Amino acid sequence: MGDTLRNTAAGKNTAAGLAAAAASDVDEITGHRRMRRTRVADWSRRLTRETRLTVDDLIWPVFIVPGTSITEPIDAMPGVNRMSVDHAVEAARMAADLGIPALATFPNVEMDKRDEAGSHVLDPENLINQATRAIKKAVPNIGIITDVALDPFTSHGHDGILRDGEIVNDETVRAIAAAAVHQADAGADIISPSDMMDGRIGAIRRALDAAGHHNVSIMSYATKFASACYGPYREAIGTSGLLKGDKRTYYLDPSNAMEAIRDAGLDVEEGADMLMVKPGLPYLDICRALKDAYGLPTFAYQVSGEYSMIKAGAAAGYIDGERIMMETLLAFKRAGCDGILTYFAPEAARLIAKGLG
Ligand code: PBG
Repeated sequence: MGDTLRNTAAGKNTAAGLAAAAASDVDEITGHRRMRRTRVADWSRRLTRETRLTVDDLIWPVFIVPGTSITEPIDAMPGVNRMSVDHAVEAARMAADLGIPALATFPNVEMDKRDEAGSHVLDPENLINQATRAIKKAVPNIGIITDVALDPFTSHGHDGILRDGEIVNDETVRAIAAAAVHQADAGADIISPSDMMDGRIGAIRRALDAAGHHNVSIMSYATKFASACYGPYREAIGTSGLLKGDKRTYYLDPSNAMEAIRDAGLDVEEGADMLMVKPGLPYLDICRALKDAYGLPTFAYQVSGEYSMIKAGAAAGYIDGERIMMETLLAFKRAGCDGILTYFAPEAARLIAKGLG
């Protein structure tokens, strides 16, 4: 081998020598292992494709506002709107027609309903519960995933009860578990706590079971990182101006993969039916690790900042937005995810329906 390489290098002084040397080099190096054989044609690429994105993989997060006949744009998220419940019902119908399996709802509640303890989360008639009731009644065949965090309801934008400068864990968990029961009463199919308090999955499971909601699932935001990617969402639900400090005392440190796996393991022990990784693309290693470690249905949340970066790049003409959208969604599948929460859901579903997925 060493001799052959030296000889061919010497023969590269003439064009003929170069061609001959190249041919023998390639023979020598590849043998019969030519990876490009399966890539030669569209049919063979389709035949050997390992991962596919289908409409069944998509969960669509939607923002709800009080009032009627409202569809208002969110500046930081081009193409995404906040909708009043009646318009959200229409959007749910459209999503069901596209074949999207489930929606995740997020409320932007009136400022005068927000307080230090986020107590309006416990109102069975609050906006998120109104939306669930209306959507379930009109579009019973679409799944509804509700977030039980306190942040849309607190005057300080945190996901927990703030006392003497601290987000208190256990009291927050009690509020979340009670709110989860109201959400299930309203018709939520999956309760999805996004607050990262300790012990919340077990507390929610016990509360749901005690209320007879045995078939309501829990999708844990098991590994939620203290990320800079949530900015546009906070504009969407009106917490960006409110949030004091940051969420590093309860969200995971972006440096820590082992801690993330341990944290998710507790959620599995406590009875989570499904796990979620959030944000998405910067944390594909965590998606793969959780899928391999626990084998539960695993989801990624391609969050607002990820969405807005792609939209902004496409609007500036720097990137092909549609192709990047599909490539990023496929990447989640390749990393082991069973599905993706994504603001692109309707757009991606339409492309998939046209056979362009
Ligand atoms: C908080 C919550 C967040 C998101 C959904 N629920 C994060 C936050 O505001 O800290 C982010 C979703 C997104 O960015 O798309 N409970």
